[in-house]
Amino acid sequence: MGLVCIVGSGNWGSAIAKIIGDNVKKLQKFVSLVKMWVFEEIVNGRKLTDIINNDHENVKYLPGYKLPENVVAVSSLREAVKDADLLVFVIPHQFIHAICDEIIGKVHKDAVGITLIKGVDEGPQGLRLISEVIREKLGIDISVLMGANTANEVAAGKFCETTIGSKILENGLLFKELLETPNFRITVVDDADTVEICGALKNIVAVGAGFCDGLHYGNNTKAAAIRLGLMEMIAFARIFCTGQVSTNTFLESCGVADLITTCYAGRNRKVAEAFARTGKTLEELEKEMLNGQKLQGPQTSAEVYRVLKQRGLLNKFPLFTAVYQICYEGRPVEEMLSCLQSHPEHI
Ligand SMILES: NC(=O)c1ccc[n+]([C@@H]2O[C@H](COP(=O)([O-])OP(=O)(O)OC[C@H]3O[C@@H](n4cnc5c(N)ncnc54)[C@H](O)[C@@H]3O)[C@@H](O)[C@H]2O)c1
Repeated sequence: MGLVCIVGSGNWGSAIAKIIGDNVKKLQKFVSLVKMWVFEEIVNGRKLTDIINNDHENVKYLPGYKLPENVVAVSSLREAVKDADLLVFVIPHQFIHAICDEIIGKVHKDAVGITLIKGVDEGPQGLRLISEVIREKLGIDISVLMGANTANEVAAGKFCETTIGSKILENGLLFKELLETPNFRITVVDDADTVEICGALKNIVAVGAGFCDGLHYGNNTKAAAIRLGLMEMIAFARIFCTGQVSTNTFLESCGVADLITTCYAGRNRKVAEAFARTGKTLEELEKEMLNGQKLQGPQTSAEVYRVLKQRGLLNKFPLFTAVYQICYEGRPVEEMLSCLQSHPEHI
């Protein structure tokens, strides 16, 4: 029987805990208690772990939804991962090194993992996938799950699809069993690197889409930004991924569907729209608008920008480049339009 540990408990972590907690009760092959590592904080004068374990609700990151009672919040990361057979990584990507470093040598050697984290890592050798960081540090196989999955809608049980990418099919299918519900339909593919890079890059496009909204460019312009962003995602995946990149993967939920939902509903879009309208900094807006949740798009644009610059490829990725320069280098947000008008896809 497999013991599951969820590493993370933000908005998405809590929504997925709801699914996992319910599923393990029905499936013999999993232990019916699920451990969830919680980055401890005080909320309304109480520890978040106490709130989750007594009231069965993550009142800070997923308010309004009860968690199954068999999901137990644990504040010690080492304690949480001890004895786990299946590890579900779901934290903002900037914390992945610190978290893996803390549990090196503490994870069961036969454990298998899956990452739901959308972002990339930047090391001395350039960009790396988050799955690679986890695989290298912990020595376990890692699948990825990415899709059009806004956490609150998943928590509400609204129908959606998602994609698992797995280099070892058997492990992908095991996670499909753990995570699938009639309203959370999973397709497993072997093109895992492409699945993962889609999840990271779509957040950059969402920032561009948010700028279009903030500038009142209208739906046609925003659709053009989304399409050109998709073309840059495909081109970047072809340059960056070492394995084969299948165009079909972009037609899965992790590709075009996630891109659409993120460009209409996600936090990156929302904050980017406010950035274009108000002129406030991203840090101010993240604090004001997200209640502790983290923005991913601007940081990913910076990581991608540095790689493109180093390889002399900035002119082939004008949307990614403009998003970075608008976010961090004071480039006027109105230049979003010129980057679309003169996009190399039109030549
Ligand atoms: N929210 C969504 O709808 C959604 C959907 C799909 C994928 N994702 C991805 O899932 C990942 C996790 O996002 P989320 O929405 O669950 O998180 P979140 O942004 O809602 O919450 C932030 C989390 O980070 C934790 N945290 C804060 N400081 C920390 C530190 N120093 N070390 C470790 N943890 C710290 C907080 O306790 C909280 O759990 C991200 O990569 C995101 O892109 C999110």
